[in-house]
Amino acid sequence: MFRRIILLWLALGSTAVLTLSAAPYASADPSTDFKIFCARCHGDSGHGDGPDGSTLSTKPQDFADCPAMSKLSDQTIFNAIKGGGSSVGLPADMPAWGEGLTDDQIKGLVQYVRGFCKK
Ligand code: HEC
Repeated sequence: MFRRIILLWLALGSTAVLTLSAAPYASADPSTDFKIFCARCHGDSGHGDGPDGSTLSTKPQDFADCPAMSKLSDQTIFNAIKGGGSSVGLPADMPAWGEGLTDDQIKGLVQYVRGFCKK
């Protein structure tokens, strides 16, 4: 029961975020986009340790984990960001951003996310 309320709250919460950002938001800088939209779960340094990450049933991916990240194609990362986790077989805890971000911004984020893995 309690878990259901939490899930409902998460679902409503992310809908509100998406509604607010429905008009594509313009930023020329992927690092700004990441800080605003992604860091709360994925962490400022991409380690999956953002403040909201701990409230999710799935811990967000550590983007600095090179072996794990090297298994993902740019297209998969793009699709995960645009269509959300469920579009690529990942947990739906990862929201979809296609409504609020343009394809170019998402492409910028793909490169930005890759940048956390420093070989
Ligand atoms: C509400 C928390 C949350 C927010 C906000 C969020 N993510 Fe995620 N993300 C997750 C979770 C949970 C997963 C699934 C577990 C994982 O990381 O594979 C995930 C998965 C991903 C993946 C796939 C990683 C993989 O293992 O296949 C990418 C790429 C990603 N997120 C990028 C982003 C970007 C870029 C943003 C900002 C536009 C963002 N995320 C915002 C929680 C979040």
